[in-house]
Amino acid sequence: MVGVQITYLGHAAFCVETPRAIVITDPWLSPHGAFDSAWFQFPRNHHLAPFVREKLSESSKERFVYISHEHGDHFDQEFLNSVQNRDFTIVIPHFRRAALRAAFADYRPKALVSCVDRQEVAIPGGYLKLYLDNSGLNRDSAIIIRAEGQSFLDLNDCKLYDLLPSIAQDQGPFDVFTCQFSGATWHPTCYEYPRALYERISERKVLSKFETVARAIETITPRVFLPSAGPACFLDPMLIQLNFERVNIFPRAPKLLRYLDKRLPNSHTRCMEIMPGDVLDVESGQYVRQAEERVDEENFEPYIRSYAALYAGFFAERKTQCLGISTVLERLRAELYRKLSNLTLHERVHTPLYFALNDCSQQMVRVDFPKKKVEFVTQIHGSDYYSIRAPSWEVVRVLDGKLTWEEFALTFRMRLNREPDVYQTLVQGFLLMEAEDMNEFCVKLLDIEEQQKRTVVEAGGTRYAIDRSCPHQGGDLSRGWLEDARFWTCPRHRWQFDLQKGGQCTTSNASIRAVCLEND
Ligand code: FES
Repeated sequence: MVGVQITYLGHAAFCVETPRAIVITDPWLSPHGAFDSAWFQFPRNHHLAPFVREKLSESSKERFVYISHEHGDHFDQEFLNSVQNRDFTIVIPHFRRAALRAAFADYRPKALVSCVDRQEVAIPGGYLKLYLDNSGLNRDSAIIIRAEGQSFLDLNDCKLYDLLPSIAQDQGPFDVFTCQFSGATWHPTCYEYPRALYERISERKVLSKFETVARAIETITPRVFLPSAGPACFLDPMLIQLNFERVNIFPRAPKLLRYLDKRLPNSHTRCMEIMPGDVLDVESGQYVRQAEERVDEENFEPYIRSYAALYAGFFAERKTQCLGISTVLERLRAELYRKLSNLTLHERVHTPLYFALNDCSQQMVRVDFPKKKVEFVTQIHGSDYYSIRAPSWEVVRVLDGKLTWEEFALTFRMRLNREPDVYQTLVQGFLLMEAEDMNEFCVKLLDIEEQQKRTVVEAGGTRYAIDRSCPHQGGDLSRGWLEDARFWTCPRHRWQFDLQKGGQCTTSNASIRAVCLEND
């Protein structure tokens, strides 16, 4: 072959092939989905597993597998273990947390390269370059693949949007760019909101994510943009209704493409919908082959129903009965106490957290952060609280070490509530992180708070001084933008800060300390 071809493997997975090298990114191909089979590949891509194994055995070319982060929809251990010929190099980000490196300890590839931020790895005719987001709550990375004079920027789920101007300047121009465009969190998916509010929050999140993608395309100005890295679909009878909601945070590519069409009328970037098995020639920006199976808005529901039917037996056999509920509650109490013991900033959280099990109505666990106490209670007291209720069998999976707390959150099999409806970073971190990461998470938060740098932004002709580091996870607010003439928006996860209310965040108790300079 001449030139560079990119085969889409579904979700965030690509096979980038040059005359001398093959790079496979985030191959999520095994038939059991991810996050305890809560998520499945959409459209399905399992038939491409033999193709990828064959590519990884292509001895005339140097081969690389890049894993962007630990999440199961990117790091598919079941599939990687199915590859017998391991004469290839694994490229991973070097996170402070050692779990990803440790997972490869016995894998025995030809080489394992654990890259620090901005490290380059030579490949025949070019290089790979990784950018790391290692900011506490998030661990993720993006990759540039440059070979034979062609370039591919794969941001996948990594939220380093504030770095894109400098990446474009230092590494551009790019031929092909891809990033995530749909949501992938438990908010508002698992929250007990009235339907209208749920849809309002979802729609706002969708549009703000689409806007982020549009801005990324404007910054990168690639020749081709490929929407990828989601949404997944949900085949578990407990979750299947998520696929068919009128509005949620899982929009499909056609909706994004309609948005981009209107939003970027003069763009020279070609935005293409891709299906697993499609092959793109990078130089011409044209498909050289297209997959036969294509899902569109018309056939979506029957497609999902028949996909789910394949798994009916699998889910029917799942063990969801849990014996010894009181033992589970006691183990949960001990685990939450272990987390609390490592949460050095516990005194700052004045909202108690209640953790209940679906199959136990008499007791729940209450976390009292300031008093550093975890106790059994029978009901929620007061009007200021966070609560979570989950199936005991899923909680046991975490307690047994089969799922991390973050993976547990992504199973979407729980319901949450918070009164008032305000995001609290420390409670969120407490729920999502492992006990051993709690302390480092607090250190990161303090680091962000201690950042003294300020920046000046403008809203309708008025200038405001604000903190430059976003209080959420340190995004560079000088790269943010104004919405509705008063809300300064962070480019990473799009928190909004009201400049007319001193920089107060609209959804959390954080602030960027906005000071109006016209009054000086
Ligand atoms: S870093 Fe997450 S919203 Fe700013």
